[in-house]
Amino acid sequence: MVKPANLPAESHDRESVDVIPGGTVFKGDHESGVITNSGQTTVKIIDIRTTTVELQLNDDIVKGLNAPVGEKTLPTMLLYDEAGLKEFEAITYVDDYYLTNAEIEVLSTYAEEIASRVPNGALLIELGSGNLRKVNILLQALEAAKKNVDYFALDLSRPELERTFANISQSDFKYVRCFGLHGTYDDGKAWLESNEEVRSRPRFILWLGSSVGNFEREEAKEFLKQWRETVIRPGTKDRMLIAFDSCNDAAKVWLAYNDRQLVTERFIMNGLNNANNILGRKVFDLSDWAYIGEYDVVYDRHQAFYESRKELVIPLAKPVKIEKGEKVRVERSYKFSYEQSVAMFEGAGLAIGTSWGQPGGEYALHLLHNPAAKTGLEPKKYAKAPCPDINEWEELWKLWDLVTLGMVRKDQYLTKPISLRNPILFYLGHIPTFLDVQVSRTADLPPTEPAHYRDIFQRGIDPDVDDPTKCHNHSTIPDTWPKLNDVLDFCGRVRDRVRAIYKNKENSSVRIQRGLWLGFEHEVMHLETLMYMLLQHDLTVPPAGVPEPDFRAQFLLDSTKANEGGETWIKIPGQKLVLGTKDCEQEGGFFTWDNEKPVLESSVASFEAFSRPITNGEYASYLKGIKSTAYPKSWTTDGRNLNTNVVAGVNRDDPSPAAFNGLFVKTVFGPVPLTYAQYWPVIASYDELSGCAKWAGGRLPTREELQVIYNHTETIKKDLEAKKLAAMIDAVNGHLSMDGVHITPPDLSALAGKADMSGANDMFANMVGANASFRRWHPTSVFGKVCGRGDGGAWEWSSTVLEQWDGFKAMELYPEYTADFFDTKHNVVLGASWATHSRIAGRKTFVNWYQRNYEFAWCTGRLVRDLAATGTD
Ligand SMILES: C[S@@+](CC[C@H](N)C(=O)[O-])C[C@H]1O[C@@H](n2cnc3c(N)ncnc32)[C@H](O)[C@@H]1O
Repeated sequence: MVKPANLPAESHDRESVDVIPGGTVFKGDHESGVITNSGQTTVKIIDIRTTTVELQLNDDIVKGLNAPVGEKTLPTMLLYDEAGLKEFEAITYVDDYYLTNAEIEVLSTYAEEIASRVPNGALLIELGSGNLRKVNILLQALEAAKKNVDYFALDLSRPELERTFANISQSDFKYVRCFGLHGTYDDGKAWLESNEEVRSRPRFILWLGSSVGNFEREEAKEFLKQWRETVIRPGTKDRMLIAFDSCNDAAKVWLAYNDRQLVTERFIMNGLNNANNILGRKVFDLSDWAYIGEYDVVYDRHQAFYESRKELVIPLAKPVKIEKGEKVRVERSYKFSYEQSVAMFEGAGLAIGTSWGQPGGEYALHLLHNPAAKTGLEPKKYAKAPCPDINEWEELWKLWDLVTLGMVRKDQYLTKPISLRNPILFYLGHIPTFLDVQVSRTADLPPTEPAHYRDIFQRGIDPDVDDPTKCHNHSTIPDTWPKLNDVLDFCGRVRDRVRAIYKNKENSSVRIQRGLWLGFEHEVMHLETLMYMLLQHDLTVPPAGVPEPDFRAQFLLDSTKANEGGETWIKIPGQKLVLGTKDCEQEGGFFTWDNEKPVLESSVASFEAFSRPITNGEYASYLKGIKSTAYPKSWTTDGRNLNTNVVAGVNRDDPSPAAFNGLFVKTVFGPVPLTYAQYWPVIASYDELSGCAKWAGGRLPTREELQVIYNHTETIKKDLEAKKLAAMIDAVNGHLSMDGVHITPPDLSALAGKADMSGANDMFANMVGANASFRRWHPTSVFGKVCGRGDGGAWEWSSTVLEQWDGFKAMELYPEYTADFFDTKHNVVLGASWATHSRIAGRKTFVNWYQRNYEFAWCTGRLVRDLAATGTD
């Protein structure tokens, strides 16, 4: 495959297709109607440049040098001229530069899995391709998988494209066709929109080499956001595969950029030669400058500087004075913790579908997608006002449709995935009917037709598990349900009614807003109910547009954290606490359900809580310990995925205790071997989990204890943020004494605003980083952190029975909401699952409940114990 250079130096002039922006890029193959490389053995390089990089560089050099002492910079792009790129390639072979080997290890290990997630017919665009050694691993895997894809190496350096493509012959590939794109990232973005054929294909953007680390963190987020907005289309097969270096070993990182063979030094120093070329004369004498690399522990980044060996005057049109020892920064390489990368994706509106990494995740590739519906995870995004705005409705409807229309096979609407509940079709009618009841009642409107839908769709069933003949009042169950299309038409009319209310600004009264809010949160709750019902259905279709997770790779990534043994018992002191909130709806406050009011003062005695919920792995050991095969309903012994005929199994190389044999955890993507789901919270009924807790020498927490645990985890989160902020402020204040190393002051006001945000409105929690609101479509590992609300993707059972309390007042618009369940059979549940919308997941006063022996809801349990039992206090 890799050949000695065989491309004549001038050949690109003949082979390339130079295009005017927006013009025809490819020669069309009229027979097949597909993009073609016209049977050439050499690779075409397409000129997509729209700007002159050199001119921009010239300006940036002058601007950067005119900055005050300590803030001078030269543009990083200076490093990537022909000579620099050759040096960079040499760096990638240096052992000290661990990044390339790490990426090769990940790509080689998972090439097949990555290739399987590239859609047939996709355009693969690699940003800043440089040397093609690494991507070649993936191209080979795509070829082996017989994927018809077109690979485009995008780089601003044409000589680099020519040089590296000289080592690749198109004739080696039958399915993969290779092209070069000569231009900048921005040119690439514009080119993707430039012609219909390009637009019509799924896109798979590769951004390897941890190049994202060369951007400032905020710039990187903006960059990803722009690509999400213009390139990665929502709810489609478009993807971005991005590499992140998470190494936090300062010495190792420093050595990577200050290698013992001095290759990096040559690479960086060449930037000054390039600056001379760009400026058209020798402005920098290399002997006046030295390369200095520094690792900045506060910001987790390496910085490359030119340090002047003596006082200098740089002879620009307006000469620039340089002090002896002054530093001019040319490159930054940021490192990202997993949490930082997740926060960046969140800010950019992208979600992780799956990840591949080295054991421990020091270097990882994340597969990102643009979710069809976006529900924010920060209070300022998901709880902007008491009443959801129309955009929030539209996003919720997208999710509802994705689930109800995309995940249910046409022939399955009349089936009952859970025999105690109504058939799936009922829920498609129930949601708009309930909304219409609230809207027509509060806005004084007649029912949307057909009005008789109210007789069958207004209220669902949730019978007594022990005696299904016992059930609260509910709508009549008809002999024949209406036709799906009629129900969908009705739903469309109700949605239009809601749209009209917003459009005509008829939603100004608190009463109408309350009706809308009620309909919104009701739909949110049913979305989750429907999801846990569909999980029990063998014929559920995986969600469209969401990448299929690589559960095995994620398990291997999580194993290091799980084996580190960081989880622990946390001592929680006795304390007073407040449950619930006061009713302030009339004063413009947030709406709440009847069971969130009034304010209740309570207290807990000191106790110890485990830092995470009980896992599937632990539950399997418990069942083995008590010699039981009474598996929870979230598990199955059948590894078949009826949607794909795939039989899931455990790779022979992976450690798998006997207790896990033959067991699988149900997911919407099919059954996952329990081995790979062993770090996830176990989902089971209260009765099952309290048995396990007792066996393990503990118990499940009371509602108050669980609330205190969540308060505690929030304090930890805020403390961490405050510590980070303090370190940054120290760094900024102390920069003059820091050996002349200037640290750009961060935007402290923005950071302070962020830290404040969860506290600003005490009602809502910052859920960034939690597994809630459809960020993932399955539970996730609970190791590696003290778990709070929504971490791991399951609600948590409390031992507190749902009972009427002093001051409880049923709601006027929906009096049965809680009151129908004061039968002492239901327990309070707190937190959130992965399918809980942020408005509910993040609202700290929200209370959920289920029957103690109900096996389907997505609730887990965590161990607590009394302090007296441990002999400590
Ligand atoms: C650090 S190298 C990484 C190369 C390769 N992706 C890897 O992982 O080894 C960065 C590459 O991106 C290219 N590059 C840098 N900025 C660019 C831009 N704005 N547009 C296009 N290419 C760029 C450079 O020419 C260089 O080949």
